[in-house]
Amino acid sequence: MRNIVITGGAGFIGSHVVRLFVNKYPEYKIINLDKLTYAGNLANLKDIENKPNYKFVKMDICDFDAFFKLMQDEQIDGIIHLAAESHVDRSIKDPFTFARTNVMGTLSLLQAAKLYWESLPEKYEGKRFYHISTDEVYGALEMTNPEGIEPPFTTTASSSEHHLAYGKDFFYETTKYNPHSPYSASKASSDHFVRAFHDTYGMPTIVTNCSNNYGPYQFPEKLIPLFINNIRHRKPLPVYGKGENVRDWLYVVDHARAIDTIFHNGKIAETYNIGGFNEWKNIDIIKTVINTVDRLLGRPEGADLDLITYVTDRLGHDARYAIDSTKLQRELGWEPSLQFEEGIMETVKWYLENEVWMDNITSGEYEKYYESIYANR
Ligand code: NAD
Ligand code: TYD
Repeated sequence: MRNIVITGGAGFIGSHVVRLFVNKYPEYKIINLDKLTYAGNLANLKDIENKPNYKFVKMDICDFDAFFKLMQDEQIDGIIHLAAESHVDRSIKDPFTFARTNVMGTLSLLQAAKLYWESLPEKYEGKRFYHISTDEVYGALEMTNPEGIEPPFTTTASSSEHHLAYGKDFFYETTKYNPHSPYSASKASSDHFVRAFHDTYGMPTIVTNCSNNYGPYQFPEKLIPLFINNIRHRKPLPVYGKGENVRDWLYVVDHARAIDTIFHNGKIAETYNIGGFNEWKNIDIIKTVINTVDRLLGRPEGADLDLITYVTDRLGHDARYAIDSTKLQRELGWEPSLQFEEGIMETVKWYLENEVWMDNITSGEYEKYYESIYANR
């Protein structure tokens, strides 16, 4: 039996990781530790909440004493750490919350894990602290044209597959950190602390840096679910700047599959980049989402293109992210399971079929519901 804490399990990516582990490993005890901030929603886990190998604990990752006690009581030997403040726009308005949760919270987990594991006869044997980070810590890539070709162009430079790229460079595991937003600065800082705990104390750590995720259960403040919801209600779609920024998109279930592979087979102290070689300009993704929603709602295709509204650009808006995940693909045999067109279709269908989830989350109903549950305990 392995006793594993997954932090941030009530959020977008965390809920997919919890679901995968609870269903795939009935012999493990999976503890979902989450503070239930605005981004945490237990409705994301309705389908597995009564499974015998699953337990939810409401806790702030900054609460050192509570987490140390949980480590002791549950004899935790694995931590998969996803809890974080995750939205760049919020970090621009309120950087302190990001430093508190992402930096101090991660440090608090590391120190509690260190004290508990070092108190055991076997010490760090069979233990693992796996920290989930982002490609945004690497900064921003330029949109450059090798040999004068207008991007996008196909390349085989960094993968066995041909793929579209908007520049000649990629983020590699060796790329120097250069974060620009308060969000990415806080994630970079937490990554440094995780690696420092390996280098200083010998803690068995792993860090992964993943590209932008999309799929079911994403909080509708992020581009894709926000826009699906706005199209549904025929509300304006605020496109930052010219919509030319490039992001590299991965289906969330493929990220969860990568986390499973790396948690079990990844090498201690290593970094793995996770991404599907899938670069898109925002404006092209937005048009694809509009066309897909229109088709599924039986509206004339493109009927909602006029909702596109160009607005003032995000401060410090990173031009391009592009992950090279060759190491993960070659060393651990992971590869994405879904083509982007399929993934977007699945995603749009899911949000349209789960209007109650969307309406509860946008009205704040879900918070009131869970507050009332906790008030009665
Ligand atoms: P999310 O915002 O959807 O979920 C975050 C979860 O953490 C929520 O359930 C929230 O309640 C919880 N949380 C926040 N502060 C907490 C605290 N102090 N104590 C305990 N729980 C707390 O985020 P997400 O998009 O699922 O991202 C999860 C992780 O993956 C983050 O670490 C993020 O940096 C990383 N990541 C995200 C993406 C992406 O595209 N979303 C890409 C790469 C990496
Ligand atoms: P987002 O989903 O916030 O992810 P991130 O900032 O972590 O990449 O944004 C994705 C891209 O979409 C990013 O370039 C900003 C842009 N964007 C808009 O143009 N309008 C919006 O309303 C939002 C939320 C994002």
